[in-house]
Formats: sequence, structure tokens, C-alpha cells
Amino acid sequence: MYSRRVPPPVAHHRSPTAALFVGLVITLAAVVAYSGYISSQISGLRRLQNDLVDRNRKDSLQLLRIQNDLNSLALAMRDMLDNDEPYPLTAWSAQFERARADLDDALKKEEQVAVTDRTPEQRQYLGNSMGQFWDAVDRTFALAQQGNPAEARTQIQNSLQARQAALSTAVARLLVQNNESEQEAAQRISKIYDRVQRQVYLFLTATLVAILLTGLYLIRTNRSLFTQLAALSDQRSELAQKLISTQESTLRHISRELHDEFGQILTAIGSMLTRAGKHAPEASSLRSGLREVCEVAQGTLERVRSLSQALHPVMLDESGLENTLDWYLPVIERQAGIRIWYEKSGTSFPLEGNAAIHLYRVLQEALNNVTRHAGVNEAWVRLRFLPRLLELEVEDHGAGLSSNGKQQGIGLVAMRERAQLLGGTLEFTKPDQGGTLVRLNVPRENLDGHAA
Ligand SMILES: Nc1ncnc2c1ncn2[C@@H]1O[C@H](COP(=O)(O)OP(=O)(O)OP(=O)(O)O)[C@@H](O)[C@H]1O
Ligand SMILES: [Mg+2]
Repeated sequence: MYSRRVPPPVAHHRSPTAALFVGLVITLAAVVAYSGYISSQISGLRRLQNDLVDRNRKDSLQLLRIQNDLNSLALAMRDMLDNDEPYPLTAWSAQFERARADLDDALKKEEQVAVTDRTPEQRQYLGNSMGQFWDAVDRTFALAQQGNPAEARTQIQNSLQARQAALSTAVARLLVQNNESEQEAAQRISKIYDRVQRQVYLFLTATLVAILLTGLYLIRTNRSLFTQLAALSDQRSELAQKLISTQESTLRHISRELHDEFGQILTAIGSMLTRAGKHAPEASSLRSGLREVCEVAQGTLERVRSLSQALHPVMLDESGLENTLDWYLPVIERQAGIRIWYEKSGTSFPLEGNAAIHLYRVLQEALNNVTRHAGVNEAWVRLRFLPRLLELEVEDHGAGLSSNGKQQGIGLVAMRERAQLLGGTLEFTKPDQGGTLVRLNVPRENLDGHAA
């Protein structure tokens, strides 16, 4: 029964390119979307920082300046009410003027940087109260100037101090408000950070999963592609080797048939014609005709024998590779019209059987290629018997193998297959002088095995 393992048929899988392309597009889109999201969050943060926190800080500074001025005014008013003071009330007017100028400036600046979430009443309140305060101050100093210090003091006590206190309270409230909104902004900022952090984790996880899935898919398709490739290569190699063995057995069969069957028939015809010729009268046309036919039969016999040899040299089986080469190289020199320099070195060992056939065919193909493609009429053949290796080289200094990798024939493929069957290596290099050097190396132990 036929029980050899047959390589599985190679299934046609869909190309992974489309899926990989989609994966790539999704990953890129995710990165772009995420970058957009992050930059919008960052610009939101920047806006918050600039619009709120910074303005709040500047506003608070101005409010503190106002509060400071108001405090110094409160101290001045306390001094003015103090009866121990030797100066007249008008002595304080310069200090009040300075404070007024500073407060005006501070109020203007405060209004510019004040955060927008303040109501119009809140905005107006400070300005109005300040205006009323200064009106009262003016009135007080006018009274003092008119020589009415007691009334002026009463005015300070009843009106000015209360107004100053109300202003101070309003400013303090605004400071508190600023502080609160600053806290709120800090909370919003920390929320943004939290959200961004969550998104970073989410994005990283999603990207990692996408990369992992794509990677796994790539590995899987890669593995299946390699398995397919290995199976194909095995099948191809097996097919080539079967072809080689079929070719060899066919050639051997035809060669033997030609040699044995036709050779014998032609030999028999020749001897019968010779015998018949002897019976014919001397110098008769029949006799000379029979001799001519006999010569034709002889010529045909020689051609059949040489064809038989060319198809499959019997010598290979009978007396080994070395003798066959001694016969074959002069023949090919004559037939192909090239000069072959043959060198043999090392201590020879017998080369017979399949190994000899493969070596012979490699040499034959290499020389064929020289005559057909190299464009020169000189070649070097070297057979080296090394201690552990047999080396066969065929060198020419012709056109050389083209480097574009395009090959039409199957000669080189068959050479490689034969090298593989021998368990050896085949390499093609370029000699210094240009051209092609084909080198076949076969370990000696393989040759012993094949010879059996
Ligand atoms: N010695 C050489 N010098 C220059 N070119 C070569 C030589 N040997 C092979 N080539 C190139 O390599 C190609 C492949 O060679 P290969 O023996 O496989 O095919 P082929 O000789 O064209 O056909 P065939 O199948 O009959 O052998 C050739 O077509 C030729 O271009
Ligand atoms: Mg060829």
C-alpha cells in the first residue's frame, strides 16, 4: 500500500494586508483624535489659568492695596480725633490727597482685572461708596479750614469712619470672593487633570490592545505564511526530485533499449549482410550493394551506441565517474567546439551509482550553460578529491550570470536539486577574471552512501 506522508494541499488564505491596513488606520486615527483631545484640554487649562487665576491674583493685589490705603486712612482719622495731637486737622489733608490718588489708581486697575462674574451693582458699589467717602472728606476738610474743627471731628466720627469701615468690609468681601473663585478654579483644574489622566489610561489601554491584537494577527498570519511556504517548498522539492528520478530512469531505459535491442538488431543485420555478401558473385553489383548497406548498418549502429552513451553513459555504472569524464570531456569539446582544461587532484575514491549520475548531470548542465550562454570557447573543469569532501568546479570567463535574478530555464534549479539529493552545497560565484564559477561540494560520507 502507498503509505508515504503527502504534504497537505496549500490552502489559499486571504492576504492580511487589508486587515493590517485597517488596523494601522484605526491606530493612527486614535492617536490623532487623542492628540486633538489633549491639546483642547490643555488650551482649556491655559485659558482657566490666564483668565481666572492670574486675573484673580492681580485683582486681589489691587484689593489689598486698597485695603492698605483704607487702613492708613483709618489710622489718620483716629489720630485726627485724638485731642492730644498738636497739629490742626488740615495737616492731614496732604496724606489724604496721596491716599486718594493711590486709591483712584488702584480702583482703576482693579476694575480692569476684575473677574467678569461680578454683578454690575457689585462693580458700581465700590466706586460709588468711594465717591461718597471723598465727598465727605472734602466737606470735613472744608469745615476744618473754615475754623470749625469740632464740627469737622464730629463729621469724622459720624460719617467718615462709618464710610471707611463699610468700604473696608466691601473690599474684604471682594477678597473673600476672589479667594473662593480661586478655589473653584483650582477644583476645576484638578478635575481637568483627573479627566485627562483617565483618558490617558483609557487611550493607552486601547492602543496597547490594538497593538497587541495587530501583533498577534501579524504573528499568526506570518506563521501560517511560513508554514505554507515551507509546504510549498517541500512540494516543489519533492516534485523536482521525482522529475529527476523519472528523467533518469527514462533515459536509462531508452539508452539501454537503444544499446541492447537496436544494437543487437543492427549487429545481426550487419553480420547477415556480410554473410549474404559472401554468397553473391564476386565483383557483382549485388555484392557491392550489400557492402554499402552493411556500411550504413555499421554507421547506424555507431550512432545508436553514441546516442545511447549520451543519454545515459553505461560507463558511469560500469567504471565510475572518473573514467566517464575522461571519455565525456573530449566528446563535448568536439561537439560543442570549446576547449576544456581538465584538472584532477587528490587521492581519488570510487564514484558510482546515483551519486555519480548526479555529479555527471551537474557537470553536463554547467558545460551546456557555458556553451549556450557564456559566449566563450574555453572552460575549466576541476575535480578535487579532498579528505572529507569532493569538489567539482566548472569555470568560464564569459558573460557571467545576470544579477537581475530572472531565470527562464530549469537547468540551475535541477542542479540545486541534485546537490540537495547528494546532501551537498552548490554555489555560483564570479571569478576575478569575470564569468561564472559553479562549485559543487559533497561530503565524502554522502558519496559512500549513494554509491551503495
Ligand atoms: N555559464 C553561464 N554564463 C552566463 N550565463 C549563464 C551561465 N549559466 C547560466 N546562465 C544564465 O542563467 C540562466 C538560467 O540557466 P538555466 O540553466 O537554469 O536555464 P537555461 O540554460 O536557459 O535553460 P535549460 O532549462 O535548458 O537549462 C540562463 O538563461 C543564462 O542566462
Ligand atoms: Mg541550462
